[in-house]
Amino acid sequence: MIIQEDCSLKPYNTFHLAARCRRMVMVEHPDEVLELADKGVFQSQFYILGGGSNVLFTQDFSGTIVHPAFVGIERVGEDKDSVQLRVAAGEEWADLLDYCLKNELYGLENLIGIPGLVGSAPVQNIGAYGVEVKDCIERVEGVLLDSREHFNFSNDHCRFGYRDSVFKHELKGKAFITFVTFRLAKESRYVLTYKALANELERRGWQPSLHNIASCITDVRNSKLPDITRIGCAGSFFKNPVVTREEYEELLGRVPDLVSYPAPDGRVKLAAGQLIEKAGWKGRRLGDAGVYDKQALVLVNYGDATPAEIVNVCRQVIWDVEDKFGVTLSPEVNIL
Ligand code: EPU
Repeated sequence: MIIQEDCSLKPYNTFHLAARCRRMVMVEHPDEVLELADKGVFQSQFYILGGGSNVLFTQDFSGTIVHPAFVGIERVGEDKDSVQLRVAAGEEWADLLDYCLKNELYGLENLIGIPGLVGSAPVQNIGAYGVEVKDCIERVEGVLLDSREHFNFSNDHCRFGYRDSVFKHELKGKAFITFVTFRLAKESRYVLTYKALANELERRGWQPSLHNIASCITDVRNSKLPDITRIGCAGSFFKNPVVTREEYEELLGRVPDLVSYPAPDGRVKLAAGQLIEKAGWKGRRLGDAGVYDKQALVLVNYGDATPAEIVNVCRQVIWDVEDKFGVTLSPEVNIL
């Protein structure tokens, strides 16, 4: 493992905020998680940081940042329809997608372009363009930090929901994910339910194929989301809110073009981006922090924004949306 004291977090968060941490540990082998547990690292303040694409550091972190830096994609099973890949937590999501495209494995292609590491994907059940990662996850392995036991959870055990899993509830801060096993299909099984994707294929006159879908999604994403190498952000800052049917119908009376999707238990998911735009925030900037002008769900650091400026925009957006529509937005990003 590599240990650095008093380390800048600027290269490790896609908001490009200049926070520091007291200590950073790069875990180079999964067995080192137990060594760290033996040393008591998880008994005091710590945070497991993946690619830093879903975190907002509001201040210096006075504890230990633990970063999975072990990689590897292993084929661990195969039948006539599918292949199982066991992927290390430190593998870049983009590299897994490359592997799938090169090896003609189907299932994750709609999730191309999402920044971050494989170990973070199950925590918030990353999703885009009609697919959630849970649709392809078979097992999640790791270490329970209190008991130091190894866990190997089935998909059901992870209790995945919209941007949600057991790792955000009972196991929040209590589990270190080491490997994720995916089951990927050998034959095509495209998900083309997302309108902008279907439209883009049609516009180009392309048939769906693994590579065509990946290319269209990459372009659709690039047209809506900032390039994180140039503009600091953490993707969608807020979750799309889920409301009761009564709340939805009341709001629909006031906002006739309200975008909605069915959610579990008869509830309704709304598009936070639409509400933020209608509240007048799209493209608005307060200092160097603001709401992205092509996708209102994304808060951005246009240069030298301070964490306080980002938090200020976040608070004002929440207040305004609450005030105008009676809907409470919650951040998707982890605010530390
Ligand atoms: N909309 C607006 N104004 C905006 C943004 C969106 O009116 O500024 C409307 C759109 O017209 C559309 C609806 O809201 O009718 C949904 O917009 P979009 O398809 O862009 O997706 P989203 O719901 O805003 C979610 C994910 C994204 C993912 C896209 C595509 C969440 C929190 N976000 O955004 O995920 O890429 O769908 O599937 O669920 C991320 O999690 O970081 C992320 C980027």
